[in-house]
Amino acid sequence: MAASTASGLQMAAVRPCVSSPRRVFGAGAAFCNADLRRASWAKLTSAGHISSLQPLQRSFSSSSLKSNNGVIKAMAESSDKPLGGLPIDLKGKRAFIAGVADDNGYGWAIAKSLAAAGAEILVGTWVPALNIFETSLRRGKFDESRVLPDGSLMEITKVYPLDAVFDTLDDVPEDIKANKRYAGSSNWTVKEVVETVKQDFGSIDILVHSLANGPEVTKPLLETSRNGYLAAISASSYSYVSLLKHFLPIMNPGGCSLSLTYIASERIIPGYGGGMSSAKAALESDTKVMAFEAGRKRRIRVNTISAGPLRSRAAKAIGFIDMMIDYSIANAPLQKELSAEEVGNTAAFLASPLASAITGAVIYVDNGLNAMGVGVDSPIFENLNIPKDELSK
Ligand SMILES: NC(=O)c1ccc[n+]([C@@H]2O[C@H](COP(=O)([O-])OP(=O)(O)OC[C@H]3O[C@@H](n4cnc5c(N)ncnc54)[C@H](O)[C@@H]3O)[C@@H](O)[C@H]2O)c1
Repeated sequence: MAASTASGLQMAAVRPCVSSPRRVFGAGAAFCNADLRRASWAKLTSAGHISSLQPLQRSFSSSSLKSNNGVIKAMAESSDKPLGGLPIDLKGKRAFIAGVADDNGYGWAIAKSLAAAGAEILVGTWVPALNIFETSLRRGKFDESRVLPDGSLMEITKVYPLDAVFDTLDDVPEDIKANKRYAGSSNWTVKEVVETVKQDFGSIDILVHSLANGPEVTKPLLETSRNGYLAAISASSYSYVSLLKHFLPIMNPGGCSLSLTYIASERIIPGYGGGMSSAKAALESDTKVMAFEAGRKRRIRVNTISAGPLRSRAAKAIGFIDMMIDYSIANAPLQKELSAEEVGNTAAFLASPLASAITGAVIYVDNGLNAMGVGVDSPIFENLNIPKDELSK
């Protein structure tokens, strides 16, 4: 069982679950740290699309992976020693992460970093994706990516079915109620999920909103229908307002809430359409307003991470994610591919007392791409002799 193989940090995260039919137990450690680094490295370098950039990518990826893991590793190793320096310590904290349905996205990476820092993990999984996610978890399909820096496996205490587009059962149309992908689950509207979490655990400390959906994302804004636009806002922005509104009464003072946004909210990114850019702008504005309201009400901090491109399931569906990754490597101040762990580690920092004065902020985790005013790989700049990463030479 997990407790026998888990580190001190990991054991601190595991609590009794009152009524948890979906509880997922961890098995023994499958990979040591070195194996994990090799596996992550293989995953990064196997990406065919970066073939022309591979020498550059290689030199950066290995060092960035080292530094990523270093942050968590230092914490995991500290379990049998007194904590020194400035550790990210989330022992005794409980996190609910909305928007985890596989091991490729930011939600999963954030769950891992929070778990590595000692937090107990609950996840909310979109109802249509629930069955496959739970089956894959149960069958060990994610075991390799569940490995934490100390070699133990991330535990997910409970998976809650969730559709963040609906606040209460009264809001759910009959065709969805009758849909066979929904019929097997219950209590998946936002209000019901929060009530169930309250019954199961009483309270949470950390809320993460890592979900988005825009049915017309591939259409330019001027070709987006009213329904498509409103659906993007409902699934990608109001879902966060609703989650925080309902969770707030059971969030322990001093806790924090986080979401994921994208630079398309403030700069033009052709191809990120269907009202998704508008939804991210709303999310960022709501972050500030909710920081004020939740701060005054329950001393909860509210921040959003503006993340760089990641090859997640949702991003692949938009259709140009590989180009965005290439573009970032060519143009960002840091010429390396962003890893989900870098976003996960930032989330762990923001959730920790180390960030106790940070609220209402948009934190960029994008290798600095947001700071650029021009795309330096443009042929127009050919004769400008713009520096390339010196260390890759
Ligand atoms: N991947 C990127 O390049 C990138 C960049 C910046 C920001 N983000 C943001 O990161 C967040 C996570 O996305 P990701 O790219 O990691 O992809 P992902 O596919 O891992 O996550 C999106 C999740 O949203 C869930 N979801 C969709 N509709 C839902 C609903 N109605 N109720 C509940 N869950 C629902 C999906 O099942 C999925 O698990 C999103 O907010 C996304 O906009 C992603």
